[in-house]
This record gives sequence, structure tokens and C-alpha cells, in this order.
Amino acid sequence: MASLLQILTLAVVSVLVIKCEEFLPCPKKCVCEASDSSVTCILKTLRNIPAHLPFSVQTLNLERNRISKIVRNTFVRYPNLSHLNLNHNKIKTVEEGAFNGLSQLKSLYLCGNRLSLIPKGTFAGVSNVTRLDMNRNELVLLTDMGFAELSKLEYLDLLENGILFVTEYAFKGLDSLKHLLVSKWKMSDLPTDRFIHLRSLQTLEISHMKSEVLKQNVVSNLTRLQNLHIGHWKKLTNISPKAFRGLDSLVSLIIHHTNISVIPSPAIQQLRNLKELSLNNNPIEQVTSASLRGMTSLRELFLDHCNLTYIGTGAFKQLKSLQKLDLSYNLLKALPRDTFPDKVTFHQVTLTENPWNCDCQMTWLISANTQGWRSVYCSTPETIQGIDVLRHGKLARKKLLQNMKCNLPTAAISQGPTVKVEQGSELRLQCLAQGEPKPTISWIPPAGRTVDTEVTLKGGVLQISAVNTADKGRYTCVVTNAGGTVVVNTSVIVIGSSQQSSGPGPSNMPNQQDPQLQSEGVNYTTLLVANLMGVMTFLGVVLLCCGVIFLLSRSKNGMSLIMLDTEMEYVPRGDSDDSGGRGKGSDEKRKIKTKIVPIATAGDKIKGSKGGKKKKKKER
Ligand SMILES: *[C@@H]1O[C@H](CO)[C@@H](O)[C@H](O)[C@H]1NC(C)=O
Ligand SMILES: *[C@@H]1O[C@H](CO)[C@@H](O)[C@H](O)[C@H]1NC(C)=O
Ligand SMILES: *[C@@H]1O[C@H](CO)[C@@H](O)[C@H](O)[C@H]1NC(C)=O
Ligand SMILES: *[C@@H]1O[C@H](CO)[C@@H](O)[C@H](O)[C@H]1NC(C)=O
Ligand SMILES: *[C@@H]1O[C@H](CO)[C@@H](O)[C@H](O)[C@H]1NC(C)=O
Ligand SMILES: *[C@@H]1O[C@H](CO)[C@@H](O)[C@H](O)[C@H]1NC(C)=O
Repeated sequence: MASLLQILTLAVVSVLVIKCEEFLPCPKKCVCEASDSSVTCILKTLRNIPAHLPFSVQTLNLERNRISKIVRNTFVRYPNLSHLNLNHNKIKTVEEGAFNGLSQLKSLYLCGNRLSLIPKGTFAGVSNVTRLDMNRNELVLLTDMGFAELSKLEYLDLLENGILFVTEYAFKGLDSLKHLLVSKWKMSDLPTDRFIHLRSLQTLEISHMKSEVLKQNVVSNLTRLQNLHIGHWKKLTNISPKAFRGLDSLVSLIIHHTNISVIPSPAIQQLRNLKELSLNNNPIEQVTSASLRGMTSLRELFLDHCNLTYIGTGAFKQLKSLQKLDLSYNLLKALPRDTFPDKVTFHQVTLTENPWNCDCQMTWLISANTQGWRSVYCSTPETIQGIDVLRHGKLARKKLLQNMKCNLPTAAISQGPTVKVEQGSELRLQCLAQGEPKPTISWIPPAGRTVDTEVTLKGGVLQISAVNTADKGRYTCVVTNAGGTVVVNTSVIVIGSSQQSSGPGPSNMPNQQDPQLQSEGVNYTTLLVANLMGVMTFLGVVLLCCGVIFLLSRSKNGMSLIMLDTEMEYVPRGDSDDSGGRGKGSDEKRKIKTKIVPIATAGDKIKGSKGGKKKKKKER
């Protein structure tokens, strides 16, 4: 009996022992699940990895403990471990060979620890890992071959590590990596050719960087890259035209919360397969007609939160595949029909949160097929404020149609209808224009006068630095908006020495030549009279001279003063005829009497004086 009992006990014990070898009792503070071979010890105060775990453990979760070190061969007895979570501990050191034996490990989580370096060999023995999360550590350096063993890694999260330096071959060996996330690197400029070793990379997120320029060869030539996400580069103002070179597979490009103020057209227009472009939260003020030219595969465009004030004519015209457009949270007032392709196929358009001015440029929206569009509320004019142009009742529609009008702009030339300008001085004409929508201003110079380099046109101002006689004539200012066109003009008169003498180059074309041709051709009688008068004057002078000589010869002392009185009128500088109520002195034209003294006697005693005589100005 006793021996039977002994045998029985032995059998039970041995069964128990065998069972224990298969699945050891669960460690203190942990929860073990035999069904899925998991061990979980979350939010405990463990300082070390429990020494005795069930050998068959496949999932080990040690999140939020106080583990500070992982020594060599820690996991060597758990060959089936495939998910190891060590997030939010205090791990500073991972000894070389710490993960030895984890040939089945698929994912390794090390977020929120204190790792500062990844020495070569850290990941030896875990070459089946496909996911590694290391965000929020204290990594400062990424050195050559740190990840070299992880040839099957597909996902690497290195976000929120203030990395100072990345060596050239830091990412070497990550031949299967498809998704890489990095942020908050501390260098002022991203190093070039670091990601180029990542031959399988499909998604790259680079955020919170300090670069002002995204240079060529930082992300260039990643031929498999499909998604590029650049966010929160507060200083980024410039994207090199070649920055996205060789990104032949890129489908989605997101650039947000940067300082770029223009759409980086030269760089993005090379991306022939781009389907999603998101440029939200950038201080971009305009989308010009050329900004998105040729981007025919684009399906989704996000330009929300950009402070856009203006969208150029036909800006979205070539986006023939576009389905989704977001222009919300901008400062847009108008959205003319010709902004879009002839056939609008957009399924989802968001235009909310813009100060839409519902004038004639917006009426097309009332009858357009805008299913799937979000509301467009009028901000101005006040009479229809708050009414949705897209969805409204009958009454509101009537009100809209009555009020969605454009007014003619106003225009004036601040220098008035005629402008006198001295030859050689500056001509400046300013065209003042007002209107809603904001009108465009252009100048038309006189016929035959081309707008060349001497003439500058800026805004409403036309400026010619040194006027010559060819610049005279009628200058017309043309002011246009959606409400119509207004034309104002001014005549420029050039006050110069001789109008005919200065032949100012080839620019004095028909306008000038016509009157000359006419005066030559028309009046032979005038010519004759002029010639006759000339002859008579000559004869008169000869007679006068004879008389003078006669008088001189008669005078005793051989000297005689001849006084030729000439009266010249001049207007003192700064005066102009039309400003009344000024002092008496400046109100006068002065006459100067000059005396002409024969040079023959100049060496002798000269009598006489230059006399000035004031005379009241004649009223005009
Ligand atoms: C690991 O898994 C395999 C296959 O499921 C199994 O045969 C083996 O016993 C497991 N090893 C341990 C130590 O549990
Ligand atoms: C990776 O896993 C496979 C099977 O899952 C295994 O055969 C292979 O040995 C592992 N590779 C390494 C290097 O451990
Ligand atoms: C990128 O590709 C272009 C064109 O294929 C090539 O000229 C250039 O050298 C490449 N750059 C790098 C860093 O490989
Ligand atoms: C953004 O760019 C503007 C010039 O375009 C510059 O004045 C400003 O300082 C920049 N801001 C930052 C944060 O770099
Ligand atoms: C838009 O303008 C406002 C006011 O000037 C400014 O505070 C805001 O940062 C700007 N938004 C962007 C995306 O630049
Ligand atoms: C220019 O102005 C004059 C006088 O104001 C006017 O008679 C003339 O029609 C105008 N010409 C044009 C082209 O507007």
C-alpha cells in the first residue's frame, strides 16, 4: 500500500513538475494569460525584468515601470517572445546582446525611456523585428550601423529625440524599412543623403525641424517614397526647386505649419503622380495662375488656414482630376467661375470661414452643381450677410440675385486733366482707383510711345525719369474690375527749348511725324511769307547798322551809348497761375530792362545801369 501511495505521489509530483516547466507560476505583480501566452505587468514598480517568466511567453508587457537597464541575455530563455513592450520605463542602458535569442520577436517598444545612444550590436539577435518604437528618448547621436541588424524592420519611430548628429551610414541596413518618423532634430540644417540608404521607404515624416531651407538631396531620389510629411518647421521659408527630385512614386505631400509664403511650384510641379497636396497652415497669401500648373493628377488639395487673399484667374483650371478642395479659414472674398476647370467634378469642397463678398463674381455658384460642397456664407454686402449662396430658400434666392452685383470702379488721375512738365525733368502720373472687387490699373501711353525701360509702371503710378518732347500727348489710365471698365486720361505738355530740334530717337513715331508732314506739305504760301519776312528783317538790320555807324561817326568823343530796351516777362519759380490769395510781391511778373552795350567801346567808360521796374501782374 505504502509503495503504491509513494508511486502515486511521485506520479502527481512529476506531472506537476512537467506542467511547471511548461508554464511557471505567474510572477508577482503580473497577470498571465495562458490562452494567448501573455504576461502583463503594467503600472507597477518593477525595477528589473522579472527573472522567471513562463518559457512560452509570446507577449510581454512591462509598460510604466522603473526598469533602468537591460543586461545581456535577459530574454534568452523565451524563444517564442514576439511582442516586447518596455514603453515608459527609465531604461538608460541596453547592453550589447540584451535581446539575444529573440529570433521570433516582431515588435519592440522602447518609447519614453532615457536611451541616448544606440551602439552597434544593440539589436543583435532580433533580426525578425518589423516594428521598433523609440520615440521620446534622449537620443543625441545616430551612428553608423546602429540599426544594421534590423534588415526586416518596416516601421521605425524616432520622433521626439533631440538628435544633434546623424552619421552618413546611420540608417544603413534598414533595407525593408517602409515607414520612418523623425522629429525635433537639433541641427540647424538637415544633413543630406542620410535617408538615401532606405531603399524601400514609402512614408517619411519629418517634423519640428529647424531648417530654413529644404535643400536638394535631403529627401531626393527616394524612388519608392509615396508619402512625405513635413510639419511644424517654423523657420522653413524656402524649398529648393530640386528638393523633390527623383520622388517618382510620391502620391501624397503634406507641408504644414511652416513659414513658406509661396506655393513651391518649381519643386512640386515635378511630382507627376502626386494625388494629394496639403499646404494647410502656411502663410501663403496667393494662389497664382501658375502655382499649380500642370498638376493634372491631383485629386485632393488642402489650402486651409493659409491667410489666402487672392486666387488668380484659372488657378485651378488644370486640376482636371481634383475631387476634394479645402479653402476654409482664409481671407478670400471672391471665387470667380474661371478659377476652375470648365467641367467641375469636385465632390467635396470646403469654403467656409472666408469673408466672401457676394457680388457678380459669385452668382455662378447659385446655379452650379455644388452637391457635396460645404456652405458659402456671404460676409458682404450687409443686405445679404449670412445667407448661404449654395443652399437657400426662394425668398433668399431673390434677395441674393438682387444684391449680388458688381459696381463700376472709380478712377481719377491725381495730376488733373493736363500736366505741364519741363523737358528733362520727371513725369509722374498717379491713377487713383477704387472699387469692389479691387480693380486692376493700367496705363496707355500716347500713340507711338511704347512703354520702354525709361518708363516705369508701378501700381497706379507711371513715371518717366527724364521727359523729352516725344513723351508729350495723352496718357490714358484704364481701371477694370468685374463691374466694368473706366477710362480717364490726361494731356501731358512738355515745355522745352525747341520742340523740333531734339529728335529723340526712333520712338517719336506717327504722332509726331504727322503734324510735321502736314506743315511742310500744306502751306506754300506760309513758307513764301516767312521767307519774305526774313529778307525784310535782314534788310532792316542792315539799315539799322548803317544808321548806328553814321551816328557813331558823328559823335565827338568817339563814344556813344546805345540803349536797346528789351522787356522780358518771367514768372518767379514756384508760382502757378491758379492759386489765389498770395502776397503782392510774388503776385507780380517782373520785367527786366537790359542794355546792350556795343563791344567796340566796352574798354572805355561805360555809363548806364541795369534798371528793374516792377509792374503789376496782369490778371488772366
Ligand atoms: C515555442 O512555440 C513552438 C511552436 O508553437 C512550440 O513547439 C515550443 O514548445 C514553444 N517553446 C516554448 C519554450 O514554449
Ligand atoms: C526569423 O523567423 C523565421 C520564422 O519565423 C525563422 O525561421 C528565422 O530563423 C528567423 N530569423 C532569425 C535570423 O532569427
Ligand atoms: C539623384 O538622381 C539624380 C538623377 O537620377 C542623380 O543625378 C543624382 O546623382 C542622384 N543623387 C543622389 C544623391 O543619388
Ligand atoms: C518667416 O518669414 C518671414 C519673411 O518671409 C520672416 O520675416 C520671419 O521672420 C519668418 N519667421 C520665422 C519664424 O522664421
Ligand atoms: C494669418 O494671419 C494672422 C494675423 O496676421 C496670423 O496671426 C496667423 O499666424 C496667420 N496664419 C498663418 C498660417 O500664417
Ligand atoms: C480723354 O479726355 C477727354 C476730355 O476729358 C475726352 O473728351 C476724351 O474722350 C477722353 N479720351 C478717352 C480715350 O477717354
